[in-house]
Amino acid sequence: MLRVGLIGAGFMGGMHAACYKALGLNVKITAVADVVREKAEKIAGAAEAEVYDSGEKLIESADVDIIDICLPTYLHTEHAVNAMNKGLAVFIEKPVCLLPEEGELLLQTQKKTNGIVMVGHCIRFWEEYTWLKKAIEEELFGKVISAIFTRISPKPTWAWDGWLLDPDRSGSAALDLHIHDTDFIRSIFGEPRGVVSEAARDNNRAINQILTSYIYRDKLVLAEGAWGYPPSFPFSMEYRVMFEHATAVYKSGSIPSLVVYESGGGVSTPEFKKEDIGTNVTGGNFSELGGYYNELKYFTEQIINQREIEEATLEESIKSFNLVIREIDNAGGL
Ligand SMILES: NC(=O)c1ccc[n+]([C@@H]2O[C@H](COP(=O)([O-])OP(=O)(O)OC[C@H]3O[C@@H](n4cnc5c(N)ncnc54)[C@H](O)[C@@H]3O)[C@@H](O)[C@H]2O)c1
Repeated sequence: MLRVGLIGAGFMGGMHAACYKALGLNVKITAVADVVREKAEKIAGAAEAEVYDSGEKLIESADVDIIDICLPTYLHTEHAVNAMNKGLAVFIEKPVCLLPEEGELLLQTQKKTNGIVMVGHCIRFWEEYTWLKKAIEEELFGKVISAIFTRISPKPTWAWDGWLLDPDRSGSAALDLHIHDTDFIRSIFGEPRGVVSEAARDNNRAINQILTSYIYRDKLVLAEGAWGYPPSFPFSMEYRVMFEHATAVYKSGSIPSLVVYESGGGVSTPEFKKEDIGTNVTGGNFSELGGYYNELKYFTEQIINQREIEEATLEESIKSFNLVIREIDNAGGL
């Protein structure tokens, strides 16, 4: 059985805990750390795990195989480096880090320790997105003419100590929210030749909306990420992809979520067998376990079967991080 030490018991920590529970007997949270002890206790209680009031102490003392980092982004690197240096496998929530030099340090440490590392780019594991990737790779509807991705959210006021709304700790909506689409775009179309980005900012000059054109020459690719909306505004992730012979439209929360309008006039609705695996109860802007469950299933199965991590690797995730940094620079800086 794989023993998991979960660090950070907020929104994502709760989500991961629900996923490990759904994964069953081969994986178990045996230690939880949070500076707010009651939060760690809430998750640990259900899992009968040990409680720590700091991530460093958990890495130092807990008898675990995996460290799962669900901390605010500015704390990812130091914890991931410590865990790798202890020879532990590491799962790091996205965005992998906050600063370019942290990306370098993470890569160097992984090389030095031969570390097993995966990053939480859950969209690579979201069924409607894996469907799209397959449709593109297999040219099911011909080549892509244009692809537009959207990710829009109410203002994330729920985070611990307001860290998400502080660009010096979160990297703003561009790095925190929009990176999901940047990473997915890279995973299906490769590295773009360049980016052209525009941003809207809040009263503190922090980016709360970014729109990027990714330059590929043979197709138009755009993505918008925004979290400046009112509390009642529903979170939504969407895409609209025009192929030579059809257009695929996805909108989270809609039924059906994905509709394919074929050039011949036909309309189809690909169906996805969603496992009934419960929902997260620790807040945030999203409550499906889907992609989160799938990525942690992949991560733990690769470890159990002694296979390499090939999806959402550290190296890939740092490339996506660096591309978002280029977008932010292009939009006038943080
Ligand atoms: N994959 C996704 O879709 C997704 C969605 C939301 C958040 N995230 C990412 O997950 C990470 C966590 O975000 P969140 O929304 O859960 O934030 P959150 O504020 O809800 O939770 C962070 C937790 O870390 C704890 N904490 C703070 N400093 C600590 C320390 N030094 N040691 C131990 N605990 C500490 C806080 O008490 C809090 O419980 C971020 O990197 C975020 O970008 C990913």
